[in-house]
Formats: sequence, C-alpha cells, structure tokens
Amino acid sequence: MARVALVTGGTRGIGEAISVALKTAGFAVAANFAGNEEAAKAFTEKTGIPSYKWDVSDFEACKAGIAKVEAELGPVDVLVNNAGITRDAPLHKMSLEQWQAVINTNLSSAFNMCRNLIDGMRDRKFGRIICISSVNGQKGQFGQTNYSAAKAGEIGFVRALAQEGAKYGITANAIAPGYIGTDMVRAVPEDVLKKIIGTIPVGRLGEPEDIARAVVFLASDDASFVSGSTLSINGAQYFS
Ligand code: CAA
Repeated sequence: MARVALVTGGTRGIGEAISVALKTAGFAVAANFAGNEEAAKAFTEKTGIPSYKWDVSDFEACKAGIAKVEAELGPVDVLVNNAGITRDAPLHKMSLEQWQAVINTNLSSAFNMCRNLIDGMRDRKFGRIICISSVNGQKGQFGQTNYSAAKAGEIGFVRALAQEGAKYGITANAIAPGYIGTDMVRAVPEDVLKKIIGTIPVGRLGEPEDIARAVVFLASDDASFVSGSTLSINGAQYFS
C-alpha cells in the first residue's frame, strides 16, 4: 500500500510542486487548499491529485478535513505544513488583524494539523512531519515581524516535536526556502524584489521544485535519522 501524504496549501506554488513530487515518488497524495477553488479544480484535473478545502487556521476544520482525507485515502503518514500567507507591513503600521492572520495561518496551523494526526502516527509508529518555514524566519525581514515570528516558530516547533516523536518513528523537520518564484514572492513590489534578488548569490529566485525534491527526501524511509533539523534552500542568501 502506498503511504499517504497530506500537503496543506498543496494546490498552488511550492505546495503544488510538493504534491506532484510526492505523487511521482509513489505516495497517495491529498492536497488541502483554503480559498482558490478554480486553481484547485485545475490542479486536480491536471495532476489527478484530490484536493480538499478547509482553513488550516481553524482547529475543528483541520480535524474534519483530516477525517475526510483518512476516510478516502487511509491514515496519513506524511504531513507537509506548507500553507502560508503574508500580510507585510512595518510594525508601526501593522494591524492586529494582520498579525493574527499570519500567526494563525502560518504557525497555529502546525498545531492544528499535527495535534489531529499525532495520535495515529504514534499508534502506527511512523510519521513524517515537514514544516515549510522560510529564510525570513531565520534572518528576519523588514516588514515581516508577523511572518518572521511565525516562520521562526515553526523551527522551534519541529525541534520540540522531533524529541517527542523519536521513540515512535516520527520525524519532524523544517525546510527554510529562500525567495522562490511564486505568486507570493512576485507580489513584493518590483523595485523591492529587484533589490532582494541582488542579495541572492546565485542571482535568481528559486524554483518550487528545488523545495519539493527536499520534501521527498525528508518524507522517505531513508531520512529516518534526520529529525529536528532545518534545511536551508536559499541560493546561498543566508547561512544559519
Ligand atoms: N531595510 C531598511 N529599511 C527599509 C527596508 C529594508 N529592507 N525596506 C523599506 N525600508 C525603509 C524605506 O526606505 C522607508 O524609509 P524612509 O521612511 O526613510 O523613506 C521606510 O522603510 C518605509 O518604507 P515604505 O514607505 O516602503 O513602507 P511601506 O509601508 O510602504 O512598505 C514594506 C514597507 C511593506 C515592508 C515593503 O517595503 C515591502 O513589501 N517589503 C518587502 C518585504 C518582503 O521581503 N516580503 C517578503 C515576501 S515573500 C515571502 O515572505 C516568502 C518567503 O518566505 C521568502
């Protein structure tokens, strides 16, 4: 039986590449999405990967969504916490709504998803939890106190969970992508983005597949001794 992988925010951007790469590697994949029905429909038609709509910032919605995925595909062995948003503003201009939206969607989602999956993984003595963090959680980014805090939080989250999961065959790791050519990054004002690319030694944005390949490795049986780590994939922009 193929292992089951669930990718949040799995129908677009980095998440789409992760879903496709996991399917190619032989996993039965479920892709969660929050809002963009049209993109999700096109994704499912193109890839044959089923998509499931719920809001990862909502604990009960995660519980119900996971139950549906597990009823259709079987117990989830691999969870990729990829869903994320930005609400950039310098702190002195940031609203409480901007703060809470990013913390809830990017960080509380890790709790909401993992808490609803961890008992099953412990019972089955196998699990792979992969959080898609960010270079901006490692180095901080002007205009992103909310996002940098959430992404740094995920790194602490996997370090703690790695220790708890070790006895049960459960690994927890983070990947910290740099600037990848997705809609999220392309939404950065053009002049700002140009300057950012100037700080990336390889001289370009990354590709979603650069991240997806690393997820496939961390999800594999070969990665059973890799846990609590953060893998930086950023074109030599930053070393932590
Ligand atoms: N460092 C230092 N100062 C900066 C700065 C920086 N990086 N960016 C802007 N400033 C300064 C400006 O020069 C300006 O200075 P003055 O007041 O002296 O003129 C001041 O800050 C205010 O700048 P703005 O008027 O541009 O402020 P704003 O509120 O209009 O916009 C911003 C600020 C929203 C943060 C905008 O600069 C921006 O969008 N920056 C990009 C942030 C970013 O990199 N986001 C990443 C998104 S992609 C992502 O998150 C994916 C991932 O994981 C990598």
